[in-house]
Amino acid sequence: METILCVVGAGAMGAQIAHQAALHGVPVRLYSRSRERLDGATAQCGGLLRKRVEKGKLTAEECQAATDLISTTTDLDEATSGATMIIETVAEDRDTKRTVLEAVGKHADAGAIIGTNSSTLPSSLFADVVPDPSRLLNVHFMNPAMVMPLVEVVRGPHTSEETVTAAMEFARHIGKSPVLVERESFGFVANRILFIAMQEAFSLVEKGYVSVEDCDLAVRNGLGWPMGPFALADLVGLDVTEAILEEGHRQTGEERWAAPALLHDRVARGELGRKSGRGFTLPG
Ligand code: CAA
Repeated sequence: METILCVVGAGAMGAQIAHQAALHGVPVRLYSRSRERLDGATAQCGGLLRKRVEKGKLTAEECQAATDLISTTTDLDEATSGATMIIETVAEDRDTKRTVLEAVGKHADAGAIIGTNSSTLPSSLFADVVPDPSRLLNVHFMNPAMVMPLVEVVRGPHTSEETVTAAMEFARHIGKSPVLVERESFGFVANRILFIAMQEAFSLVEKGYVSVEDCDLAVRNGLGWPMGPFALADLVGLDVTEAILEEGHRQTGEERWAAPALLHDRVARGELGRKSGRGFTLPG
């Protein structure tokens, strides 16, 4: 059976997941409530694809073929109809995801798999709002989704073996290297490790041991990360980073996840990282 992907939500993650799949020949319906967001998503990813063509990494024909495979819609029924795989990428907020996944469940074809791209909210939080939880799981892409190879496929207690296998196959089919996370836990695997490291970086700077710049330099040059924790927080979004940590604190009750003042202060000032043009490593 041909894979048809429906991506629900056209933020940075949804847009890039849609384009990643189209680059691997998968027809995609990209859904958002907002026509402006859909247009923004296609413009931004179109720019990334054109850069690849300029660099000789993609032919103009491949770029066009991928673009042609993506249709955009503000109609959820049209987006989900015939889709074999649905990936929800809306805001990282429990109530928003519940509402959207409930609507997706009502519209989705009976055989469709529903993956939530949440990085912190396990799919079991949503098992009661979809008609068939055996087809529900977390399918978590890393940011930027067109670049990072990892997809975490997370088995929920309700998820069937068939669904896990299909999600792993889908991720490989679109050029990703999936890992199977056997049990749900806050942050799954990569983010659980990353955000503890980020917390340590925040604490070192907050306590005056090192500057933001030197901390990032130490991690890049000493640990071989492509970008330091502060630049990475700016990429992920400081509001998203704060929300992830708060969710960790809420889910586990452990102080080690509590978001630090250093982060709260930036977010309160509207300094959200790349999306606002100001952040730890972006002066203006
Ligand atoms: N979106 C899409 N593509 C991007 C991009 C973006 N935001 N930024 C850079 N790229 C592409 C570039 O176009 C370039 O593509 P080609 O190789 O095809 O030419 C490639 O990535 C390399 O880019 P640059 O040469 O400009 O810069 P770089 O070598 O410094 O790479 C980077 C940029 C890919 C972001 C790299 O620094 C990196 O891998 N950083 C680490 C990212 C990371 O750790 N992500 C995990 C985030 S945590 C997360 O995802 C949390 C969560 O769940 C909420």
